[in-house]
Amino acid sequence: MEGEPSRTAMATAVARARHRLYDDAPWVLDDPFALVLVGPIWRLIERRTERHYPEPVDRAYRAGIVLRSHYAESRLVAGEFAQYVVLGAGLDAFVWRRPDLVRTLRVFEVDHPASQRGKRDRAAELGLPEPGNVAYVPVDFEVDTLADRLDDAGFDWSARTCFSWLGVSMYLTVDAIDTTLRTVARCGPGSEIVLTYAPDDEALDDIGRQFDQIAGRLAADAGEPIVTHLSRLEAESIATGAGLEVADHPSIEDLVDRYLSERRDGLRPYTAEALLTARVP
Ligand SMILES: C[S@@+](CC[C@H](N)C(=O)[O-])C[C@H]1O[C@@H](n2cnc3c(N)ncnc32)[C@H](O)[C@@H]1O
Repeated sequence: MEGEPSRTAMATAVARARHRLYDDAPWVLDDPFALVLVGPIWRLIERRTERHYPEPVDRAYRAGIVLRSHYAESRLVAGEFAQYVVLGAGLDAFVWRRPDLVRTLRVFEVDHPASQRGKRDRAAELGLPEPGNVAYVPVDFEVDTLADRLDDAGFDWSARTCFSWLGVSMYLTVDAIDTTLRTVARCGPGSEIVLTYAPDDEALDDIGRQFDQIAGRLAADAGEPIVTHLSRLEAESIATGAGLEVADHPSIEDLVDRYLSERRDGLRPYTAEALLTARVP
């Protein structure tokens, strides 16, 4: 990634946009900003996606991407949180998609400095507002101390806080994941982090395995190699070792039952990414 905005962040924004373009309504997540945030290059990203992923893999991938945001925002709505920290925000348009939620929260958008700069420049170009209760916090999880950067941004450690960390842990070392979770554990009781991780081979079905192999190659080519896969047990023990308790660790079947069972189009998320919510006891 170095000094360039994250290319995988553009790819996931395009996945959110393509869910809206090609999957049936009601959308699992309605993100009308994703296409314009990425800009005209989205067509190139789409062509590359279609070239590399067989259609069923592509469909399950975009279902997984929208479902993880839907899940995180369901947890946010369900809890009585005062702050929301979007870790590795990429081109997530939460701030513009959900003014109803933003209004009641202090929001901290945390991302790699290069990605964050790129997003803020693009938002300024588009004339999108930066609300006063949203703080932009540039952090490189591998080298910076998240806690210090949050302090600089006026973060309240005693407030009940929800963190989301979607599609990021797989690009980090286990040490960097552990450090971030320990930072979350310093927050007020009842605070939560919703994160995704790349599961090990045992948890993958055929579509998930195909995705994992292709995405691994594409991410490495983009300069953002996937470095960490975790078993279910490993993911839970990193969270508990950091001082958190596991609040929810849904299987794909759980997610389908909860969020997709009413659909008639058979939309299912890929198995190449798993969701975990950990809570401050
Ligand atoms: C696949 S994108 C996910 C973006 C967003 N969460 C989403 O759901 O679309 C990965 C994100 O992780 C961030 N990231 C990767 N390595 C990072 C690091 N060492 N420090 C901070 N952010 C990092 C990238 O900047 C990018 O925004």
